[in-house]
Parts: sequence; structure tokens; C-alpha cells
Amino acid sequence: MLSQKENDLLTRVGPCTPMGEVMRRYWLPALLAEEIPAPDCPPVRVRLLGEDLVAFRDSQGRIGLLAEHCAHRGTSLFFGRNEDCGLRCIYHGWKYDVDGNVLETPAEPAGSEFGKKLRHVAYPCQEVAGMIFCYMGPTEKQPVLPRYEWASLAPDTICPVKSYLECNYLQGIEGDFDSSHTSFLHNNSIRDMERLKRDGAPVLEAESTGYGMRAVSIRKAEGERIYVRTSPYIMPSFSIVPGPPTAKFEDDDIRGFRFWVPIDDTTSWLYILNMRRKSFAAEERQTLRSWVDSDYRRIRNAANDYLQDRERQRTASFTGIDAVNPAEQDGCATESMGAICDRSREHLGYSDVTIIALRKMLLRAVSDVAEGKDPPHVIRDLRESDFSRLRSIKRLLPAGMAWQQIFEEIGPNDG
Ligand code: FES
Repeated sequence: MLSQKENDLLTRVGPCTPMGEVMRRYWLPALLAEEIPAPDCPPVRVRLLGEDLVAFRDSQGRIGLLAEHCAHRGTSLFFGRNEDCGLRCIYHGWKYDVDGNVLETPAEPAGSEFGKKLRHVAYPCQEVAGMIFCYMGPTEKQPVLPRYEWASLAPDTICPVKSYLECNYLQGIEGDFDSSHTSFLHNNSIRDMERLKRDGAPVLEAESTGYGMRAVSIRKAEGERIYVRTSPYIMPSFSIVPGPPTAKFEDDDIRGFRFWVPIDDTTSWLYILNMRRKSFAAEERQTLRSWVDSDYRRIRNAANDYLQDRERQRTASFTGIDAVNPAEQDGCATESMGAICDRSREHLGYSDVTIIALRKMLLRAVSDVAEGKDPPHVIRDLRESDFSRLRSIKRLLPAGMAWQQIFEEIGPNDG
């Protein structure tokens, strides 16, 4: 368990909060590229780390992410006109470019230099792999976006999906490092179920890495073997979990890079960047997105009790929630803890050792930033940013073999 103070430290992400400062040292997903698909298309609202913002794509295709409320007298720029390389407020016509410069103040007297003295809040953005990343921290601390596997993949081999989570981000990502729950919550929905069911109390280990940490689970498996699964935690709140994103895919080559992004303290986005070597067909993309609606809300959500089927639960499925994507079942488990889980009331056991390690690592990152240091995995040099071989791994090994040998085979740059 955590003290109330530690829980607050890890879960509060607004401006000037300790964890909010940590999060602001990294490039974070702000929205999907498809939400602002073309130059001069309508702007969209973005709420991120407790800040209200507006994203737009200008006439030249450049992306702007501005504070939502006009610097003049606060009207929402969401209602603005996106035209001629800028976003124009509909109240008095002030116009902003993607960098937050005030280009025009047409209600001021001719020749007024008023707008030149102002700079609206604007965060730098970059579009990669169908997603738009932004940096919200101090300019002088801006890192590079590391070159993960997806950074260089062809657009037809990636399929990003996002889904809304009605709770704090930490509840979401803790689930990715809680291997034992897969033997229960995801019963009937992932392909490794037989192996996972065979041993619901795996041996767990956590190891510090340059990018964050690696969680390892080791289960007894058939034929005197062990079944090892490893999952990287990538600072500040990203992960890769083993296996394809849904049992509907036979293709074991599909991987999902996951980003848990705080909207504010009590709601989050989960971005899953699905990728593989060959192209996704249109119907495969449809399947990968079929569990969320056009507003990226899960079809199974708290308001409908996750469409749980008690008869299925009694006869066929551990949960009665037969999901397309395991994230639907995770949503039930994590949202039902409450908007911000009270970790001072937990009773942690052996199955939580990787969660404990994760929290310690995040608390260290909070202390580092408070002491003026960089948190882990802040990369400033492109030559040191190649994380293209970072993977989640699942392997059957002879009993007694050390799981570390997997990484001797595949090389050190899984992290
Ligand atoms: S409030 Fe936006 S221009 Fe006046």
C-alpha cells in the first residue's frame, strides 16, 4: 500500500504537481492524426494533464496545440475559424498561428502593435505513426521522441486506436504490470489462456532498465518447461504487453504499444498502437476498432455495467464480459476501483511485487525532478534514441533455465 501522500504524488498530474512535472518532461500522445485529418479542418478540443487545449491543422498542414481560451477575453478557440494559416477567435477576430503568435487583432486601431507583445500558450507537436505527440514541459528541457519500432513503419502496417478510461492513468498502467490477473480477468479472451490458467500464481520479477523497468512472469508449463512473459514499462506511462491485441487474430506477429495518458486526475486515454510487418486489411482495422464508438468511448463501459452476462459468467466465462480487446475487461477492473484508487487501503501480496517496483520507480522519478534532475529515459541525442527492438516477449524455456538468457539471444537493445 501507499500512504495517502504518496498516492497523491503519483496520481495528481495537473500543472505544478510533482507527477505532472514528470509527465511534462516527455513527448505524450495528444490525439490521433485522424481527428484533424486535413489542412483547415475543424479544430478539436484536447484535454491533457488537466489543461484545456485546442488542436488544429493549419493551411500548410502544420499542427497547432493551443490553450483553449483566447488570450483576449477567454472565448473558446474550439469555435474558431481555421483559415489562412491560423486559428481565428470568433469573438473579436484575434488570429493565432501554430506557435501561439498573435498574427492579427482586427478590433484594435490600425497599426496597433498590441498583439506582438503577446504569446499564447502553444505546445510543440509532431505527427508519427498516425498519432500526434506533444511536449508540454520547459522549452530548455525538451527531449527527442525516441525511435521506437513504430516510428519507421509504413502507414498500412499500423493501426492506432484510442479508448476513454474513467479513472486515473495509474490504475490503467498498473494492470499492464500485474501478470497474475491475466489468468483470471482475461479468461477466454487471449490465446495463451491454457498456459496462463495452468499456473495462476506465477513467479514475478522486476528489473530496472534504462527506459524504465521490465516486468517478468514465470509460470510452470507443459513438459517440464517454464512459460516466461516479459513486459517493458517505458517512462512515463507506456508499455508493451505480450500477445496479439485480441483472440480474433491468429497472427502472433501483431504487437500493441500502449500509452496511458492522463486527461486529468480522474480520466485517461489508452492509446494502443497496433503494428505488424504486413498490411492491415480494411476489415482487420474494423475489428481492431470495433470495441470503441466514434467518440472513442468503449461500447462496454461503466454506464452499462460492461454488458456483463451473468449466464455466460456462470457457464462459460470467468467474467461474463466477452471482450474483443482485453482492455474492455481491464476497464471494468480498473474503473470500478474508483476514479482515483485509495491505495492506502490496499492489502498487497506476492502477486503485486511488480506493481510495488513500478510505484517505487515512479516515486524516484518524482524525487529526481524535484531535485532538479532529469527523470529516467529522457533522451536528448538522436544517436542514443534507437529503441526499435524494444519488445514484449513470451517464450517456453526448459525448466531451470534463467529467463535472462532470452535477452542474451536477442541482444541488449530490447532496452
Ligand atoms: S475573446 Fe477572442 S478575440 Fe476577443
